[in-house]
Amino acid sequence: MVNCNTTTVFAAIGVAYIGYKLLSLLKTVFDVYIAKGTSLKKFGAGQGSWAVVTGATDGIGKEFALQLAKNKFNIFLISRTPAKLEAVAKEISDKYGVETKIYAMDFTKGDALDFNNLSTQLNAIRVGVLVNNVGVNHDIPTPFVEEDDSVINNIVEVNIKGLMKMTKLVLPQMKANRGGLILNMGSFAGLVPTPYLSVYSAGKAFLSTWSQALGMEVMKDGIVVEHVNTYFVVSAMSKIRKPSALIPMPKDYVASVLKKVGVPCGANVPFTSTPYPMQGLANWAINNVFSRHFWVKQNNNIQLDIRKRALRKREREAAAARKTE
Ligand SMILES: NC(=O)c1ccc[n+]([C@@H]2O[C@H](COP(=O)([O-])OP(=O)(O)OC[C@H]3O[C@@H](n4cnc5c(N)ncnc54)[C@H](OP(=O)(O)O)[C@@H]3O)[C@@H](O)[C@H]2O)c1
Repeated sequence: MVNCNTTTVFAAIGVAYIGYKLLSLLKTVFDVYIAKGTSLKKFGAGQGSWAVVTGATDGIGKEFALQLAKNKFNIFLISRTPAKLEAVAKEISDKYGVETKIYAMDFTKGDALDFNNLSTQLNAIRVGVLVNNVGVNHDIPTPFVEEDDSVINNIVEVNIKGLMKMTKLVLPQMKANRGGLILNMGSFAGLVPTPYLSVYSAGKAFLSTWSQALGMEVMKDGIVVEHVNTYFVVSAMSKIRKPSALIPMPKDYVASVLKKVGVPCGANVPFTSTPYPMQGLANWAINNVFSRHFWVKQNNNIQLDIRKRALRKREREAAAARKTE
C-alpha cells in the first residue's frame, strides 16, 4: 500500500515536471513565432525622436541604424571611422529621408572629452532609443594568462565602461520624458561562460546582470531596458560569412529584435530577449536540457577548435609574408 502511494506520488511529480517543461517550450515557440513586441511608436517612432546607435557603421549596428530610420526615427550614429559614418548617414537620409547626426570616437580611449561633447549633443535632441551595440572581442580564443593587457583593457573600456557611460548620458532625459528604449547587445557568451574568451564572456555577463537591475530601477519611469541575448550573427566580429538556420544575417537578426521588444523568446531572466527564432529555441534548450557544466564544456571544446584553426591560419600568413620578403 505504502509502495503504491509512493509510486503514485513520484509519478505525479514526474508528470508535473514534464508538463511544466512542455508548457515552457510551447510558450517559447509562441514567443518566437507568434507574439508581437511593443510597438516602436511607444518610443517616439515617427514623432521626431532620435535613435542613438553605437558601433553604427558595420554589422549589427549598421542594420539597427537603417531599420530604425525605416521606422522613422532620426538617427545619431557613433563609431570610429569618420568616412564610414558619413557614408552610412548619407545612405540613411537618401533611403529614408530622416535627419542624421554623426560623432566619431574610439571607445577604447574612454576619453572624457568625447563623452562631454556627446552629452551636449544628445541633450539638444529628444532621444527615444539608445542601442548600446559597440563591442570588442579577443582577436582569437586565447588562454587568459597569455592574453595581452591591451586586449583586456579594451574589452573593459568598450563593453563595460562605454556601455554605462552612454546609458548615463540619455537616462536623465528619458526619465524627464517618461519614456525610452535602451537595447543592450548581449551574447550567449554571457549566458554560458566561454573559456578562452573569458573577459568578453564575463563582460557580457556583466551586461546581462546590469541590464536586469537597471531595467527594474527605471521601469517606473516608463523606460524599457532590454538585454538582447545573441548567438552568432554573420559579421566582421564573428568572422562568419555564411548564414544558417541558427546564424542569421544582421538584417534578419535586427528585424527580429525590433519585432520582439519586451518578449522573452526563450530567455528565462528578466528584461532579456533572445528574439531570433532558432536562437530563442537554443536558449530554451540551454536552460532546460543538460547541466550548465555540460554547456561550458561544449563552449570549451568549440573555442579550442577555433583557436587551433586561427593559430594555423596565423602560421600560414606568417610563412607567406616571409616568402614575399
Ligand atoms: N556578431 C556576432 O556573432 C555577435 C554575437 C553576440 C553578440 N554580438 C554583439 O553585437 C555587437 C555588434 O557586433 P558586430 O558583430 O556587429 O560587430 P562588427 O561587425 O565588428 O561592427 C563593429 C562596429 O563597431 C564599431 N567599433 C568597433 N570598435 C570600436 C571602437 N573602439 N570605438 C568605436 N566604434 C567601434 C565599428 O566601427 P569602425 O568600422 O569604424 O571600426 C563598427 O561600426 C557587439 O556588442 C557584439 O559583442 C555579436
